[in-house]
Amino acid sequence: MKRTLTIVSLLTLMIGVVWVSRPAKADDSLSTLPLDDIATGYKIAPVTLNMTGRDPFLVGWGSYLVNSVGGCNDCHTNPSYVNGGNPFMGQPKKINAAGYLGGGQKFGPFTSRNLTLDSNGMPAGMTYDMFLEAFTKGTDFGKKHPQMGPLLQVMPWPAYSSMTPRQIRAIYEYLSAIPSVTVPGLP
Ligand code: HEC
Repeated sequence: MKRTLTIVSLLTLMIGVVWVSRPAKADDSLSTLPLDDIATGYKIAPVTLNMTGRDPFLVGWGSYLVNSVGGCNDCHTNPSYVNGGNPFMGQPKKINAAGYLGGGQKFGPFTSRNLTLDSNGMPAGMTYDMFLEAFTKGTDFGKKHPQMGPLLQVMPWPAYSSMTPRQIRAIYEYLSAIPSVTVPGLP
């Protein structure tokens, strides 16, 4: 009897240890999401968001990453600011919402791409797996300049590659919620 009890308490202890030390499910635990960043993300989004079918936490966080730390607008919107709203000219910032992230800025031989939804409803015309690979490895799926090699140029993917997959997922989710923009000459 005493032995059985010992075995039972040992088993209980083992199950307890396994339970406590189980890997946290980082992706769905709200307590690990940066709620301040998410709230800021909603404040600074310069366009109306289509939230149908979107994860509100990821969209808000993605907005924060795109519109503050990412600086995507400064390269992927042409022009980035409306007349009279250019911070580089000492004017109060006003983003060009009509062309927001539609691409078309020239950097020597390279042109920034359209990041908004294509006709299949995919941001930059990319699946999430492609987007993740472009962000982490710099793969240019469009092969826009094969003479220069297979990697995206100018685009700061070497820095973005240190983001966590969850952050890159949030950026993708945010880009899925912004309006589609057509820029002449760009897909
Ligand atoms: C310094 C300028 C710059 C910044 C900042 C920048 N990009 Fe880019 N990005 C580019 C350029 C230029 C290209 C095209 C590169 C080429 O042709 O090799 C590009 C390409 C891309 C592509 C590949 C698209 C495709 O069709 O293959 C994606 C996706 C992308 N950028 C997303 C982003 C996002 C999201 C941000 C912000 C987190 C961002 N970029 C910030 C300049 C920039």
